[in-house]
Amino acid sequence: MAIPPTPLAVLLLLLSLSPLCSSQKACTSDTFSQNRLFAFCDSLPVLSSNLHWTYHPTNATVDVAYRAPQTSDGWIAWALNPTGTGMDGAQTIFAFHNSNNVMTTVSSPITLSNPVVKNSSLSYKVYSMGSDFVNNVMTIYATIQLPGNKTRVNHVWQASNTFSNGLPAGHPTTGPNVQSTATLDLLSGQSSAAAGNSRLHRKNTHGVLNAVSWGILMPMGAIIARYMRVFKSADPAWFYLHVACQCSAYIVGVAGWGTGLKLGSDSKGITYHKHRDIGIALFSLATLQVFALLLRPKKDHKYRLYWNIYHHVIGYTVIVLSVINIFKGFDILDPDQKWKHAYIAIIASLGGIAVILEIFTWGVVLKRKKSGGSDKPHSGINGVNGTNGYGGRQHQVV
Ligand SMILES: *[C@@H]1O[C@H](CO)[C@@H](O)[C@H](O)[C@H]1NC(C)=O
Ligand SMILES: *[C@@H]1O[C@H](CO)[C@@H](O)[C@H](O)[C@H]1NC(C)=O
Ligand SMILES: *[C@@H]1O[C@H](CO)[C@@H](O)[C@H](O)[C@H]1NC(C)=O
Repeated sequence: MAIPPTPLAVLLLLLSLSPLCSSQKACTSDTFSQNRLFAFCDSLPVLSSNLHWTYHPTNATVDVAYRAPQTSDGWIAWALNPTGTGMDGAQTIFAFHNSNNVMTTVSSPITLSNPVVKNSSLSYKVYSMGSDFVNNVMTIYATIQLPGNKTRVNHVWQASNTFSNGLPAGHPTTGPNVQSTATLDLLSGQSSAAAGNSRLHRKNTHGVLNAVSWGILMPMGAIIARYMRVFKSADPAWFYLHVACQCSAYIVGVAGWGTGLKLGSDSKGITYHKHRDIGIALFSLATLQVFALLLRPKKDHKYRLYWNIYHHVIGYTVIVLSVINIFKGFDILDPDQKWKHAYIAIIASLGGIAVILEIFTWGVVLKRKKSGGSDKPHSGINGVNGTNGYGGRQHQVV
């Protein structure tokens, strides 16, 4: 049995065709109340939002319309961030229905240390602002003074439906709601991925590295070890394949883990505690597993039984935790559903292959036993048998 190349190839193919950063211009068909017209528009990469604007170089002002789908009990927000990227320092304009069900527009600077929305002025002059709600679409209109007459600006947008004291408060901290930031070039009409999406790109890299290593290669390595040694001719090839598979999985996995640490340290304000803690536990257990290989007693040593038990318990724990953490990662990154489906398909195929091989192995073992072979029966935990050795040249099944 060779390592099936298909799942890996499929995943890499999907990656190369990654649609995660693409966006079409769906904004051009938008129309506005009071016959407002704008010179440029751009469809933003997440939250199904469009931004329309007209830049006036003579007085360094810009008229904008930010539009997003929303229910009547929700809010939308759009901001320039003159001092950084993302939410920290965003000079934000919010639109929502107030308690009298009247569309209301308020401005509020937002910082990470003080994310509470107040009705207060922004760091740049706002000449006018307003909003409307038509057919489950909310729109913010504003005319603002461009800080420093800069025509390349960082902007942030948001939508949610939670309130506190009658003002917007809080939003989901996963997926599109934390990817809604970009750099906007007012002159060229492009909202480029630059600011926010290099981070999204790194998150995708983190996801793929970890899904492939911890989520696919490691279970494959376990399948190789458990089922290949039934074939006498595959001894000791299975052992070297197992070690090669797990070691390459470990190397790629540590790279993926490193990207996770970097993402965690760059992520001000939001920590995904469970995902992080499981990641750290995984790294520790897998490292232990690699070093335990060096401490492996000889196959006829009396402690070898305990080493085998230990090796299996840690190995299966790593696989279970890996799969759990990959699904936690999917929830955080919230990519297109097909990625999650692709991973589910791969892991289910591996599970199916394991079940078939398990049945087949038992068949072979029982047959050999019946025919009076010297093979020992399949013990509960594969390989726990005291005399069986990894890489040993015995003709044993277990
Ligand atoms: C703003 O910058 C543009 C060029 O980027 C320039 O033509 C214009 O005169 C500037 N306007 C003000 C008010 O400084
Ligand atoms: C800025 O200049 C444009 C014309 O270039 C004008 O239509 C607009 O009213 C001015 N905006 C402000 C706020 O003065
Ligand atoms: C915000 O404050 C201004 C005056 O500073 C007031 O006119 C306006 O009604 C307030 N808006 C809300 C929603 O409280």
